[in-house]
Amino acid sequence: ERIPKVEELLSKMTLDEKIGQLNLLTPGGGVATGEVVSKNVEEKIKAGEVGGLFGVAGPAKIRVAQEFAVNDTRLGIPLLIGSDVIHGYKTTFPIPLASASSWDMEMIKHAAEIAAQEATADGINWNFSPMVDIARDPRWGRIAEGAGADPYLGSQIAKAMVHGYQGEDLTDPETMIATVKHFALYGAPEAGRDYNTVDMSRIKMFNEYLPPYKAAVDAGVASVMSSFNDVEGVPASANKWLLTDVLRDRWGFDGFVVSDYTSVNEMVEHGIGDLQAVSARAINAGLDMDMVGEGFLTTLKKSVKEGKVSEETITQAARRILKAKYKLGLFEDPYKYLDKGRPDKDILTEEHRDFARKMATHSFVLLKKHNNVLPLKKNAKIAVIGPLANDKSNMLGTWAPTGDSSFAIPILEGLKKAAPNAKITYAKGANITNDTTLAKNVNVFGEKVSISDNSPKVLLKEALDKAKDSDVILAVVGEASEMTGESASRTDITIPDSQKKLIRSLVDTGKPVVLLLMSGRPLDISEEMKLPVSILQIWFPGVEAGNAVADVVFGDYNPSGKLTASWPRSVGQIPVYYRHKSTGRPAASDEFQKFRSNYIDSPNSPLLPFGYGLSYTDFNFEDVKASADTLNADGSLEISAKITNTGNYDGEEVVQLYLHDVVRSITPPVKELKAFKKIFLKKGESKTVTFTITPEDLKFYNSDLEYVAEPGEFEFSVAGSSAADFDGSFVYEK
Ligand code: IFM
Repeated sequence: ERIPKVEELLSKMTLDEKIGQLNLLTPGGGVATGEVVSKNVEEKIKAGEVGGLFGVAGPAKIRVAQEFAVNDTRLGIPLLIGSDVIHGYKTTFPIPLASASSWDMEMIKHAAEIAAQEATADGINWNFSPMVDIARDPRWGRIAEGAGADPYLGSQIAKAMVHGYQGEDLTDPETMIATVKHFALYGAPEAGRDYNTVDMSRIKMFNEYLPPYKAAVDAGVASVMSSFNDVEGVPASANKWLLTDVLRDRWGFDGFVVSDYTSVNEMVEHGIGDLQAVSARAINAGLDMDMVGEGFLTTLKKSVKEGKVSEETITQAARRILKAKYKLGLFEDPYKYLDKGRPDKDILTEEHRDFARKMATHSFVLLKKHNNVLPLKKNAKIAVIGPLANDKSNMLGTWAPTGDSSFAIPILEGLKKAAPNAKITYAKGANITNDTTLAKNVNVFGEKVSISDNSPKVLLKEALDKAKDSDVILAVVGEASEMTGESASRTDITIPDSQKKLIRSLVDTGKPVVLLLMSGRPLDISEEMKLPVSILQIWFPGVEAGNAVADVVFGDYNPSGKLTASWPRSVGQIPVYYRHKSTGRPAASDEFQKFRSNYIDSPNSPLLPFGYGLSYTDFNFEDVKASADTLNADGSLEISAKITNTGNYDGEEVVQLYLHDVVRSITPPVKELKAFKKIFLKKGESKTVTFTITPEDLKFYNSDLEYVAEPGEFEFSVAGSSAADFDGSFVYEK
């Protein structure tokens, strides 16, 4: 689509000015995730060498930069102002892996709307979110930033977030451009090591890893970020098959593609050429904007002169970026996001905080119930123990660069406020880790990790003293924020030893123990699952951490979260995911059998399956049936189930529909999530949930990458997790 205003501008632009539009800089001062930050930004803007900035915030500061672009350049083209608004702007929501666990699309969309409202109030018009990378390897630290392991759920979340950020109308000053990232397959690095190589078959990409990016494109996302990794031997930032053949030609994407932080330059290290060569290759592949590295700025003109890049290719990239500016309405009013009155009115409002609190409560996953210790009475004697219990700095979680942990409510504070009649005591109990190497590598997580011999003993003694004088122990344990996220891959995904020791000692007191577990990834908690403890997974809950924890611990909200990635029994099982293939020698059970696809030292099943999560109440599923035995090509069929709340509390359940395509031309997964509904049931109440299935729901990409539904039998189950047996089947007839 050609926009006259954009074409008119392009016709006036010199080659240098067009190349300038392709350059995205960060002046530093914010959080940099690479080894360089941009130099001489002011001069470059004035020289027309900059198309956008990120890492600057606030109407006043941004106005200065925007005025350089508007007043001091020949054509006065305004800047895009980007930012990583990953899980909220100042009102920090739970980490994305946590909010995904709510399985509540309205809530996820609304959180994105709030994030957009706050970010735009602070002058930002372009967001580097949603991150939709499917991740099945919890060693990878950035699993925290996405929706987990499933392409269907991931696609629904991608759509909700794009709609939340972009709204109906991008010219509305409370909406912003979304960026789906990291295209592509960034969540599947070999061995879970960040930035590592990705290589997989195209049917695997299309069926398992690409759907969420496509869902974002279908939802109208205006920009895409290429990833750091290579795919089939070509780094994503120069991968023409990905950036043009798939993204534009196949999916019809018409926005612009931005690189990741210096990912153009990093292709030199990848080993595919010098800076001029990789820059030329990137733009020829379909990359439009170069983040921070300035390879485009410094080499493209030369490449045009040498005939390595056509001027039309550069014009096309500039056109895409100008179109984005036009869509935002920046040409009409470059200062439209720079209303000085908005930050105070729109950012970190009480309403937003209340929503963050609610969202956090909905993201918690009850992993284990023991003796119905939870919920606690508000007049109990509670020992709150653990290195994360009275902490602000770890509550927001990874990659909350626009958040401010000084606004976070520590868990201890939230509990005390919610239960003024309880007798609450506190002790740190242990360091997050005593492992000096780990501590050093993750920048000591905002606390000084003590490694002296005595200190852990002193901490433990103090904790045990408090514990002995309590009715119940709440142990807040797990990962520090910086043990997850970018460049935080782990080979050992257990709770650090220092805290394991604390947990064992607390259990030995004989008091009831509840673990409030914090992490940004599925952990290996095999040991803790065997202990007589209750476990509530609280991830990194965000700015309202303490209040949200109190709501759930005291039963004002009954936990309803469900895992969106399987939790392994050990690192050796990784990747372990419910949507796996059968193999020709499937294991019949978790018992070892010779010459079957299993392990001699571990069951195949995960410790905790995808879709799993308990409630203070219990739910019973019955009467699961299909409305017919056959589904025709132009027809539909209903699958329903009656769900009853059989326990003692009102509560919510995520009702999940799984299908199994019994025979297809390529090996099918043993199970695929196809739909879900979150329902509320009062105690004793029953509801029938009905899903409508059409042939569209049966489609997959075949060996020719055609999207087809093949006739034959389909088994189905409707349940509260992916681990349930099938309830019945129907036949699809073409
Ligand atoms: O948006 C991020 C990306 O996710 C990782 N590298 C840096 C980018 C900009 O901050």
